[in-house]
Amino acid sequence: MPATVVLGTQWGDEGKGKFTDLLASDVDFVVRYQGGHNAGHTIVIGEDRFALQLVPTGILNSHVIPVIGNGVVIDPKVLLDEVEVLSSRGVDTSRLIISGAAHLIMPYHQELDRLTERYLGKNKLGTTKRGIGPAYADKASRIGIRVQDLLDEKIFSQKLEVVLKEKNQILAKVYNRLPLDESKILSDYFDVYAPKLAPMISDTVGILHRAYKKGQEILLEGAQATFLDLDHGTYPFVTSSNPTAGGACTGSGLGPRQIDRVIGVAKAYLTRVGAGPFPTELEGDVADLLVERGFEFGTNTGRKRRTGWFDLVLLRQAVALNSVSEIAITKLDILDVFPEILVATQYEVDGERTSDLPYHQSDFHKARPVYKSFEGWMEDLTKVTTKEELPYNARTYLSFLEEQLEVPITLVGTGPERDQFVSFR
Ligand code: IMP
Repeated sequence: MPATVVLGTQWGDEGKGKFTDLLASDVDFVVRYQGGHNAGHTIVIGEDRFALQLVPTGILNSHVIPVIGNGVVIDPKVLLDEVEVLSSRGVDTSRLIISGAAHLIMPYHQELDRLTERYLGKNKLGTTKRGIGPAYADKASRIGIRVQDLLDEKIFSQKLEVVLKEKNQILAKVYNRLPLDESKILSDYFDVYAPKLAPMISDTVGILHRAYKKGQEILLEGAQATFLDLDHGTYPFVTSSNPTAGGACTGSGLGPRQIDRVIGVAKAYLTRVGAGPFPTELEGDVADLLVERGFEFGTNTGRKRRTGWFDLVLLRQAVALNSVSEIAITKLDILDVFPEILVATQYEVDGERTSDLPYHQSDFHKARPVYKSFEGWMEDLTKVTTKEELPYNARTYLSFLEEQLEVPITLVGTGPERDQFVSFR
């Protein structure tokens, strides 16, 4: 059975978790393919709120095998804490499997993430300070320590000795910090984390290919989003992995021809955390209302998100970059109280209008949105579950997006609960 990818089409926090959770009820495997605990998915089931960072969303569906793929970077303490919390709330976590090729986030990664941000001063990226960038940098430099190294203390300690020598030099000589204690790291990783993680470590690539051959359904779950992609995002204000659909292949080991459905999740307005260009960014009362109604604060970091109107220039590019085959719109109900809703259809750069994303970063910073205005529906959508019940103005807004993106909208979120959505399929 070909696999499905669910990914974010904007700057993250589109509400992917809710639809991933919904889709997970029909699949056999849910695979996280990139990122680390910089991600945060909130799922609401009845009275329960689950905030997941590393464990794939599918963990909440008892028939699903959740997989952390090779493209993910793992902080073992965070993962084990998350597993423990889920277990204590009655969730069966024994099905979780982790790729031996995924990389470990080490204490020096977190330390260096914090220090580099401070060093950059006003040019800082606004990272989550979780060590994500430094861990991927070590992976690319081929000095990363992988999950499979937890299965062999000798190899692990040999690798740690070499890499820590260099990191401690940097900490001491560049940042004037105390060196990290090798024996403390070894004892945390070997005495505490390795015994608990060892039973979950596996050949996830082999498992997924065998599942594919048997006709089982695989859902590949993206974290962050298209414009935080290391290659296609608003560099350098990006994360250090590839949330785009190509990353779903490299980060899971499935090939491109094994994927036939790409669901692009887009919030009905825009948000961004951290620094970087944002042409439709709002300030003042409208921004405050979006933050308040959408509860736009980071799931993990608590940071207030920047807000703006929906941007078709970004979305058209996201559809192209990811071969998006269908769109899921989230949080449409947040717009219920706005008498006027704007959508950017083009940018103006140096007096010239363009429908394309500026390829040069300086032009992106200068881009001013060209808006189309829509009359708001001014009705409560939170109980709407069918297309017919959607107010005329809401349908007009959605039809315009669909027509502009040339991709069908198949799902529309109308509230945080699992059952608050409209299916257009
Ligand atoms: P990093 O991923 O911690 O290195 O942060 C790089 C950039 O990506 C920063 O602007 C973060 O705010 C942003 N970012 C990372 N993870 C997420 C996420 O899950 N949602 C939204 N933004 C994110």
